[in-house]
Amino acid sequence: MGCSQILIFVSILSCSSLVFAGDFRKDVDIIWGSDKAKILENGQAITLSLDKVSGSGFQSKDQFLFGKISMELKLVPGNSAGTVTSYYLASIGAMWDEIDFEFLGNLSGDPYTVHTNVITRGKGDREQQFRLWFDPTIDFHTYSILWNPKTIIFSVDGTPIREFKNMKPMNVSYPEKQAMRVHSSLWNGDDWATRGGAVKTDWSKAPFTAFYRNYEVQDCVWSASGANVSCGGDGSSSWLNEGIDENSMKRLKWVQSNFMIYDYCNDAKRFRMGLASECIDMN
Ligand SMILES: *[C@@H]1O[C@H](CO)[C@@H](O)[C@H](O)[C@H]1NC(C)=O
Ligand SMILES: *[C@@H]1O[C@H](CO)[C@@H](O)[C@H](O)[C@H]1NC(C)=O
Ligand SMILES: *[C@@H]1O[C@H](CO)[C@@H](O)[C@H](O)[C@H]1NC(C)=O
Repeated sequence: MGCSQILIFVSILSCSSLVFAGDFRKDVDIIWGSDKAKILENGQAITLSLDKVSGSGFQSKDQFLFGKISMELKLVPGNSAGTVTSYYLASIGAMWDEIDFEFLGNLSGDPYTVHTNVITRGKGDREQQFRLWFDPTIDFHTYSILWNPKTIIFSVDGTPIREFKNMKPMNVSYPEKQAMRVHSSLWNGDDWATRGGAVKTDWSKAPFTAFYRNYEVQDCVWSASGANVSCGGDGSSSWLNEGIDENSMKRLKWVQSNFMIYDYCNDAKRFRMGLASECIDMN
């Protein structure tokens, strides 16, 4: 997309912040389970399905070094136990970076678990898990990942549920050098996903289907030499400088005190050698 085309969409004077509402036909490649992933509604929607033979998945054609990505998802309804719908950003290689949302299915009427993780240079173990304050299978809800040089914020319908700050001064590695693609897949995780693997996928209910729409990306444009050409440059209102303001912090705390069901920063039993250094700041 050239700058002039983008300007039509965002009506700002400098072509500094790229926002586009995606078209799945142009923006993603189906990389798994070809016939089980279906692009619909002129590229505005996609469905992924899973049966006993395989699941399915897609990834963005573009790679991003920082970005604000959002997508609306409607998760597998009914008995979704054992299924995992993933939606994440990841770079490649042995020292990869990754920012994860995973939705762990459950028996009809039992709650989904939203599983999050941040992996830097191949090292993760930073899980936080949440319940949602709504049934994610009835309607579409917006799940976003803001990733800028200062912070990573996971949000649900605009409410932040988790923040992972750049704490390089405290020697915590932060993803800031490797570009990432957006990935999504629907797969069978019944060896661990639901009640730790105790509840298996009921294949008589297959195929399972998850629905996606309104893929939106704001990102930076980089030249071939690696210099950023434009990256929401003009300042304070840009996603590039976005952080958590006072009001968002209240909502984040509301989520964390009412809906967080697991926090690696509170798991001294698992991390006998000591909690991660970023955990100190989080209390
Ligand atoms: C910083 O982290 C690296 C990698 O984990 C480690 O090798 C190094 O010793 C740490 N430096 C300090 C000052 O803690
Ligand atoms: C499924 O529901 C059970 C019972 O409410 C709950 O313990 C569990 O955490 C839920 N989620 C998963 C992914 O197992
Ligand atoms: C982009 O380049 C400008 C000017 O060189 C610099 O100030 C800014 O920090 C860079 N942004 C990123 C995300 O690298």
